[in-house]
Amino acid sequence: MLNRIALILAALSWSLTSPCFAAPRTAASADADGHPWWEHAVFYELYPRSFADSNGDGIGDLNGITARLDYLRDLGVDAVWITPCYPSPQVDFGYDVSDYEAIDPMYGTLQDFDRLLREAKQRGIRIVMDFVNHTSDQHKWFLDSKSSRSAAHRDWYVWRDGKGQGAPPNNWLSLFGHSAWQWDERTQQYYYHFFYPQQPDLNWRNPAVETAMLDVTRWWYQRGVAGFRLDAVDTVFEDPALTDNPVLPGKNAYGDPRMHNVYNQKLPADNEVMQKLRGIADQYGAVLIGETNPVDVSELESYYGQGGKPGLQLPMDYLFTNVRTLSAAEYRKQIAAIDRTGHWPVYLISNHDVRRPVSRYGDGQHDDAIAKVLAGMYLTLRGTPILYYGEELGMANNDPTRREDVKDPIGRLGWPDQKGRDGERTPMQWSNAPNAGFSSGQPWLPVPASYKTHNVAAETADPDSVLQFYRRVLELRHTEKALLDGRYVPLNPDDAQVLSYLRRIDGEAVVVVLNMSGQRRHVRVDLATPGLANRAEILVSTLHGVHGPVDLAGFDLEPFGVLIGKVGRRASGRF
Ligand code: GLC
Ligand code: CA
Repeated sequence: MLNRIALILAALSWSLTSPCFAAPRTAASADADGHPWWEHAVFYELYPRSFADSNGDGIGDLNGITARLDYLRDLGVDAVWITPCYPSPQVDFGYDVSDYEAIDPMYGTLQDFDRLLREAKQRGIRIVMDFVNHTSDQHKWFLDSKSSRSAAHRDWYVWRDGKGQGAPPNNWLSLFGHSAWQWDERTQQYYYHFFYPQQPDLNWRNPAVETAMLDVTRWWYQRGVAGFRLDAVDTVFEDPALTDNPVLPGKNAYGDPRMHNVYNQKLPADNEVMQKLRGIADQYGAVLIGETNPVDVSELESYYGQGGKPGLQLPMDYLFTNVRTLSAAEYRKQIAAIDRTGHWPVYLISNHDVRRPVSRYGDGQHDDAIAKVLAGMYLTLRGTPILYYGEELGMANNDPTRREDVKDPIGRLGWPDQKGRDGERTPMQWSNAPNAGFSSGQPWLPVPASYKTHNVAAETADPDSVLQFYRRVLELRHTEKALLDGRYVPLNPDDAQVLSYLRRIDGEAVVVVLNMSGQRRHVRVDLATPGLANRAEILVSTLHGVHGPVDLAGFDLEPFGVLIGKVGRRASGRF
């Protein structure tokens, strides 16, 4: 009971205290039912370069975000994760950080950031930052590290001798192409980089590095930040013996041998860092979202904690984004696997590294319906959804067609097999004004022609739009207890085309029926066995002309159609 009161008080303290320099909280903020805030929150991933440009330089910025907070609040967003906006040479568009405790002038100032925090808080929106465990080669730590072998920060990075005659220390490859080792002429050694050569890996085995990096999180928490998304958190450590990775048959998009990253990824020590970060996060009621990339659910489970030590609250699994073709059977399998763990899942259907779903699954004819059927799924499951900006509009990828237009270096290096990630990072489409209302200048990436119809203004005016559908489903998510906390109960497990399930709690249930095929389907659902009436009061649906309760014993759903309905107990005579 005391614990419960402490949690409620912590929740209240978030709404009452000033966002800047907030005092550490000793317990995770929770609602009256004891749910920590991140379990019921809807997260929104925002790529700051592309969200809203306030000063016409073609690049989004913090003041642009602040100006759009009402939009996010009205959409039903509770927390915004901003991808890196720290000072950076922008080789990897912010994921090469040259100062962890400042804002890049292209995005604004720390004062702008504080204002964003304050304004967001007034609207009940929390701000989550990105925690990048490698630096830029322009970070002062690295500049010192490479100045001489005896420099104070030499051991803050991973420096090794080569094997002679131009051979690097071992066969490890960068995820972004070619050797993971970069030769340094001045000090005659190689340094290690899992990503671009301009993103040297920190040596986390050096306790000074760990201390400095943990302090970075405290610094932002004290400013009022509500958590971090841990970038590439399975690449923190490497095997100190530098054992060669096993080589697989074939070549990757960069022409390198394919490789199994056994010795430089997913080392057990990565989990220890996550646990330490969690210890600090808990003091501030903060959340940790992991860019974890498990191959399966058992690997995913380890990120939630191990050996009695809590790890991340929201490790991402990518199990959804790895579903290559839209398939009810495949999604059902993934949902069941995650649900069986009993942990609190996190769901996303795309991000700044993953093609947008309309472009993965779309057929050019039903793209909006596909955007809706996916929203009908990931926003109604038990767990926390993370929307990627623009998903709520049904935005499509705008992929470059010529190598010379590509901004993302992996697209230039891997062209044409690997076109890079520009396509999923294009400007947010606000209106049908020039540049989709994103900027009065030339945007850093081009907007697709579809912005004329797919934009906030046009979709707000259209009751059938993807945006209005998102708004309605997100509103339900905040109000229907069954959608917030209900158990996941699969229905019709053998239906390969239509995904159906119940979310059920106490006397309340919501039924979700999603036609994941391009054909009209006749659907039969039997809720008598679970003890419910077989009729649903429509909460949100794509059914046209149907207003009264839907008889679940037999009804038709159009291609990619959605029915989300409230179901009463059989005996209640409610319907
Ligand atoms: C993560 C980011 C990606 C970035 C990489 C290197 O995977 O999501 O955008 O390029 O880390 O920091
Ligand atoms: Ca700008």
